[in-house]
Amino acid sequence: MEWKDRYALGIEAMDATHREFVDLVGALSTVADDAAISRLEALIAHSEAHFEQENRWMKESGFPPIHCHVGEHRRVIASLKSVLFLARRGNPGLARIVAREMATWFENHVATMDAALAAHLRPWFRERQTFPGSGKAQESQEAGAFARGPRRAGA
Ligand SMILES: [Fe+2]
Ligand SMILES: [Fe+2]
Repeated sequence: MEWKDRYALGIEAMDATHREFVDLVGALSTVADDAAISRLEALIAHSEAHFEQENRWMKESGFPPIHCHVGEHRRVIASLKSVLFLARRGNPGLARIVAREMATWFENHVATMDAALAAHLRPWFRERQTFPGSGKAQESQEAGAFARGPRRAGA
């Protein structure tokens, strides 16, 4: 699996995480049996953090289809964990099969659920960066100028 431009959703943190996901799935798809379990564990650790971050953004921003998207993440983690269980029991080759499944899953997930989330988050991030940020910056600049004035005068 390789990165494709159409995966980019225009939110830097999300795109960086998705690049990492694509790299991990790509590596897993051709992994040797003796490295399959550690590679699979790495993909699971990444996916848990990746999905938790998206779940947190959904919650904080009030994303309407949150349950659908969170449920999808939960199902993927459960599948990966059951494959890990079987791989540990002597079927390491399953890791390569699940990598191909994950590549197909991601193609669809990024184009639908993650794309919808990104479209919802873009204005939300913009507002958070613009309104609270500039307000605070202005306030603290004024407070700073005010505080510096008397101190300098007193020194
Ligand atoms: Fe994602
Ligand atoms: Fe997602």
